[in-house]
Amino acid sequence: MLNKEYIVHILQDKDALYLASAGYWLQQARQAIQARGVFHVALTGGSTPQALYRLLAGPDYAAQLDWPNIHVYIGDERYVPHGHPDSNFGMAKACLLDHVAIPAANLHPIPTDDDNAGQSAARYADELRKLLPDGDKQFPQFDLIMLGMGDDGHTASLFPDTEILHERDKSVAAVYVDKLASWRISLTYPSLNQARQIMLMVSGDGKADILAQVLTAGSERLYPVQQVHNAGEMHWFIDQAAASRLA
Ligand code: 6PG
Repeated sequence: MLNKEYIVHILQDKDALYLASAGYWLQQARQAIQARGVFHVALTGGSTPQALYRLLAGPDYAAQLDWPNIHVYIGDERYVPHGHPDSNFGMAKACLLDHVAIPAANLHPIPTDDDNAGQSAARYADELRKLLPDGDKQFPQFDLIMLGMGDDGHTASLFPDTEILHERDKSVAAVYVDKLASWRISLTYPSLNQARQIMLMVSGDGKADILAQVLTAGSERLYPVQQVHNAGEMHWFIDQAAASRLA
């Protein structure tokens, strides 16, 4: 049985997964702009969302989105220049942001050009404080945070056995990830948990085992992604391959 905290959408295949995800994204953008005049969305990195970003940049969606009232952030970033092939902002630009009529002033990448990642994380936290409304615990409140899940159960840059998992005061923090031998900057649990909506996209049978553990009701909360409990709805968009181990 699935954990009732989650709203799980199981789609036939990757194409259906991206169409459903795009429809939800469009709906969230419209609802936020209709209600508050603006849509604050944090994009996720990784490979899974790239086809969604390309879809949103395409003729079936881009013209339906009110880009001047959409503000785009990045939920986590590798501590590399934005032009580096590993940059999540660089990927989002290539797949979406360079192809739609979003004003440059509406793009809010995580800075990666300070003396160290901690300074950049603090800068981003200040920027979020200025740009975003506060949730009820004085942390920035996004309308939508997009997330992925690694095969170790990490989400954003909240990796197993890292200090950032214990961060409860900062909205954004830097973390050195031993297994990647690299610095990351990420929204922390307090920020993720303030989100009005969260959407996770998981695709492929490589994640089927861990996804079944994560989504099953009553399972021990072993993985970082299971510590996300946002105030609003948490939607999982998964394809049949990723869902193949769900009872
Ligand atoms: C990143 C992401 C990360 C990603 C997962 C899943 O910076 O890589 O934010 O959390 O969502 O690692 O990545 P894939 O979509 O490539 O499987």
